[in-house]
Amino acid sequence: MTLAIIGGSGFESLPDFEIVSECRLRTRCGLPSGPIVEGRLASETILFISRHGPDHRIPPHRINYRANLLALQSRGATTIIGINAVGGIAGHMATGSVVVCDQLIDYTWGREQTFSDGVDQPLQHIDFTQPYDEPSRRWLLEGAVQAGETVVDGGVCGIIQGPRLETAAEIRRMERDGCELVGMTGMPEASLARELGIAYACLALVVNPAAGKSKKLITLDDIQVVMNRSIPRVMNILRQCCSQKG
Ligand code: HPA
Repeated sequence: MTLAIIGGSGFESLPDFEIVSECRLRTRCGLPSGPIVEGRLASETILFISRHGPDHRIPPHRINYRANLLALQSRGATTIIGINAVGGIAGHMATGSVVVCDQLIDYTWGREQTFSDGVDQPLQHIDFTQPYDEPSRRWLLEGAVQAGETVVDGGVCGIIQGPRLETAAEIRRMERDGCELVGMTGMPEASLARELGIAYACLALVVNPAAGKSKKLITLDDIQVVMNRSIPRVMNILRQCCSQKG
């Protein structure tokens, strides 16, 4: 198994990551968000890419998800963990929680969302009943237990277009739909990974209460504070997972 991590907001690089090489690639779907970095985490060799680019410039709707996945695949990735900052909708998705999601609802539009686009790839209708790879979810959950970190097992993440945050009414509608979390970048990453046959799971970091779920406005400063507290916890889980990599 070759593990790759796609780092979201707050994870433009990985702390404690011993970089071995950086590879800038062009894929048949264009340029990825940045270099594919190969390095060592807890003595295991893994791959890393920053989803929004190393300088966090690329907004969710402009990320070349297809190129990111093709580039990781070309470097040998067989399992991908996507790290996503999200807002908490459900009461049990408190700010600061780390969640191993088990379902999603896709509200995004206008993104290049498939390799089956009628050009050179055969038409595929992937099974997406369970959008996340269950063994990878279990591996993350087990790593969290071993690392002594509390995580939430399962959660429905609604993925919206962004980059703006939602209205309170949009969040109420998403809640009625069954969303427990809201983020901007979980799709089409998850389904593209499935199209390529790469195992994919998502580690979501709840960095704010979703719109209308708190009396306070959502500010980037508040999000940053939560993020700074959560990064060491996520790294603890990832290090533990790497040290028990099969
Ligand atoms: N909404 C959508 N995406 C997000 C949020 C949010 O509240 N917080 C972090 N990413």
